[in-house]
Amino acid sequence: MNREYDTVSLDDERGVLVAIDQTKLPNALEFLALSTPPDIRDAIRSLQIRGAPAIGVAAAFGYYLAARNAAVSGDALWEALREAKQTLASSRPTAVNLFWALERMERSAFSCPDRQNLIQRLKAEAVSIRDEDVASCRAIGGYGLTLLKDGDGILTHCNAGRLAAVRYGTALAPVYVGAERGARFKVYATETRPLMQGARLTAYELSAAGIDVTLICDNMASRVMRNGWVRAVITGCDRVAANGDVCNKIGTSALAVLAAHYSIPFYVCAPLSTVDLRTASGDEIPIEERDGGEVSEMWFQKPSAPAGVKIYNPSFDVTPHSLVSAIVTERGVLRAPYAESLRGAKHS
Ligand code: MRU
Repeated sequence: MNREYDTVSLDDERGVLVAIDQTKLPNALEFLALSTPPDIRDAIRSLQIRGAPAIGVAAAFGYYLAARNAAVSGDALWEALREAKQTLASSRPTAVNLFWALERMERSAFSCPDRQNLIQRLKAEAVSIRDEDVASCRAIGGYGLTLLKDGDGILTHCNAGRLAAVRYGTALAPVYVGAERGARFKVYATETRPLMQGARLTAYELSAAGIDVTLICDNMASRVMRNGWVRAVITGCDRVAANGDVCNKIGTSALAVLAAHYSIPFYVCAPLSTVDLRTASGDEIPIEERDGGEVSEMWFQKPSAPAGVKIYNPSFDVTPHSLVSAIVTERGVLRAPYAESLRGAKHS
C-alpha cells in the first residue's frame, strides 16, 4: 500500500473529501470523491470509510464541505449546517469520534465572530482535527512501544491500523513506529467475522508495509495464545466510557477474557477523542446492529445458512474495565482506576 496516501483527505480545489474505498480492499486500491453530507453518510454506513478516527475526520471534512459548497448564505447557511450535522451523525451510532468531531465543528461555527470568515474557520478546524489525529496516533505509537519488547508477538482484532485513522492507526501505531525505530514484531490478525476487516484490511496494510503478519480465524486465538506466541493483545476502540469500559469490534471482549486466562496483557489504544466522559459505563454505549446478510451471504457464493434463519449481528461489544491492562492515549499509558486516569488525561 502506498504510504503517500492518507486514508481520508481533503481536496479543497475540487471541493471533495477523498477517501480510500475500504470495501474494495484488498483487491483494488480505489478512491472515493465525495462532496455532500448524504454521500459521506452513505460511505460511512456501508463501511467504505470506517474506523473510529477516520469516521471522525471524514465527518469534520463533510461539515466543512457542506458550508463551502452551499449555494446559500445567512440563515439558510445555518440551516444547511444544522442539516449537515444531523445527516452525518446518523451514519453510525457507536464510534464517539463521529459525534465529537461534529460537535467540535459546530462549536467552531457558532463561535466565529466574523461570519465572512466562517468557511475558512471551518476548514482550519477540520484540518486541525485531521492533523491532531496523525499526531495523536504517532504519540500512541511511542507510548505503546514502551509496553513491548522487540520481537514480541502481538494479537490484534479487526482493523485499528492506518486504514482506521488517517495515517498510523491506533492499535497498530506501536508496530509502525516500532518499525521506524528498527523493532520487528510478529502480528497475529484475527480475520474478524462477519465483515473480515482483519483479513481484508489489517493483513493487507501490514503486508504492504513489510510487517510480519499471520492471519488466523477468530476461533484460533486461544490456540495461538496457548502456543505462547502472543505477548500482548492490542486493539483499538470505538468508545471508552468514563469508568474505563471499552467498546470495540464484536469479538474484542472474548479476546480480553482469553488474554486474562493466559495472563497476557490486554491493551487498548485510543486517542482521547475516543474517550467519552459523558457515558458512565459500557452499558450506556449504543451498539450498532447490522444486516443479517453480512453473516449469511456477503462472503459466500451461495448462502451459508438456511433461508430465513434468525440472525443476530451486533457490530461491537463492551469489554469491562477490569479486563483492560492499560489504555494507551496520546497523553501516555493510563492504568486503573480509569475513572481517575481518564478524567486526568482528558482535562490535562
Ligand atoms: O465496523 P468498523 O470496521 O468501523 O470497526 C472498527 C473497529 O472496531 C476498530 O477496532 C475501531 O474503530 C478502532 S479505531 C482505530
